Parts: sequence; C-alpha cells; structure tokens
Amino acid sequence: MKTDDRVALDEWYAVETAAAVTAAPVVTHLLGQDIVCDRLPDGAPRVRECLADGFGPALPVRERYGCLWTTLGHPNRDVIAITEADEPDRRHVPCGWVKMRTSGPRVVENFLDMAHFPFVHTDILGAEPNTEVPAYASEIRRDVDEVWATNCSFFQPRIAATETQGDFVRLTYRVPSPFVVMLYRVCPSAPDRLDAIALFIQPMEEELCRAQPVMYLVDSCSTHTALLNFEQVIFLQDRIIVENQRPLRLPLEPRHEIPTRADKSSVVYRRWLKEKGLRFGTVGHG
Ligand SMILES: [Fe+2]
Repeated sequence: MKTDDRVALDEWYAVETAAAVTAAPVVTHLLGQDIVCDRLPDGAPRVRECLADGFGPALPVRERYGCLWTTLGHPNRDVIAITEADEPDRRHVPCGWVKMRTSGPRVVENFLDMAHFPFVHTDILGAEPNTEVPAYASEIRRDVDEVWATNCSFFQPRIAATETQGDFVRLTYRVPSPFVVMLYRVCPSAPDRLDAIALFIQPMEEELCRAQPVMYLVDSCSTHTALLNFEQVIFLQDRIIVENQRPLRLPLEPRHEIPTRADKSSVVYRRWLKEKGLRFGTVGHG
C-alpha cells in the first residue's frame, strides 16, 4: 500500500537505470506503490502509478546521473545537484542496483559510518589495529538543508581501485536528501580534486529498498570492470551488515541506541530526519 507519509512522498527518487528504460514497460516499486517506467516513441521517459484499473497520470520525471528520477508527491526542490557530473574528464560509473531487506535510512546510516571499515571491509577500507575513528565535524547546513560531515579521516589499506598502498584518507560526507548519501575523497591520482561517490536509494517498502552506487571519478587508468568490482565487493559486504541490524527501521529517538563519538554523523542525520518528520523507514517519533 502506498505510504501516506507526506515527507517521503514529497522527495525525488532514482527508480531505474535510465539505459534500462525502453518502450517495453518495466514495473518497480516505490514507497509501497507499484510504478511502471517506459519511453514514449520520441524517447521521452514516462513513469506512472499502477492502479487497480490501469495506470495513473504521468508523474514528474527527470533523467539525471544515469537514472530515472520521479516523485509521488510535490517536492519543493529539484533533484539533488552533483556538480562533478558536469566535469567532462570524469568517469561516470553506475554500479547497478542492489536490493536489501532493510529500510532506506539504515542504508544511509551505514554509508556514513567509518567505524565498521576494518571489520566489514577488512584489508580494503580498513584493517586492524587501525580501528580508531579520528574526531570529525558533523552538522545540518540550514542554507541548503543538507547534512554534512567534514574533516573525516581513516586509515585505509587500499584506498581506491588504483591504489595498493595504505594511507590516511580524507573524507567528506554529504546527505543532500533523506535517501541520497554521498562521499567525497581526495583523488589518489589527482590530489587537488575529489572523487565523488553517490548512493541513490529507492525505498520500496518500509523495510525493503534497493540502492545504486554511482561514481564520478578522476581515474584514467582503471578498467570499468575493475571499478565495478571494487565497489560491488564493498557494497555486498555492507548488505550483510545492514540486513542484520535491528530494528530494521531507523530509530529516531536519541536514547534508543547509545552513540559514541564515531557516530556523530549518524546522530545528526537522525536529528535531521526527526525534524523533517520522516516516518517511512523510521521508528520512534515523539
Ligand atoms: Fe561499508
């Protein structure tokens, strides 16, 4: 059943890989609602709700970052801006959808978490004994209504597909909408630029979603396959973790889980969602 959560309805969501949408309709699911995506004879994408007796009217649709975006409500802003997408020398690497039996907000929270690197992505994004998360800053930026975590750093044994040596990497996290999270990291082969890695989450049900990592990289050496493999290995490791967290819906009450210093960005993300009044995929509203 389609959610009645206004906050969730009034967001944009990536719902399909644009290249996968053709004249042949594909049905997917968003916020409890079946939707169908196809292309008109002139190539324009179309998304409609599946109703008991046919299809609803065409929903707002955007084709951006290799995905089709739509909304079941009335967003008060456009699809998020990723300025790196406009830089012609970057590799655009859409990594494919991964379905997960958990809520969208749990997936965002896991993406923000550095403390799990040595234990979940052992010898890739982290390794013992370097398990400490150095202090960082996290805030809600009111002017843009986004969550940012800055001055993050972590020791990584293999910081990118191009690298085989370990080092402290500097990371910046951005949550531009409740179901999109991004990571910026200093690009190993161009130290004055930042690689951008976005995770687009399609919340299908309260406790079911799929997510697609989309990377904009300054990397002229790695093969597309190597880049895909690097990201997919990491993401499948994350799926095991997020599917085993309880509750599956993200608790928004501050006392529900006891945070540590490393969880600061998660605390701010939860506070932001609570302020917005997001109910879909969360628990513990006051
Ligand atoms: Fe992870």
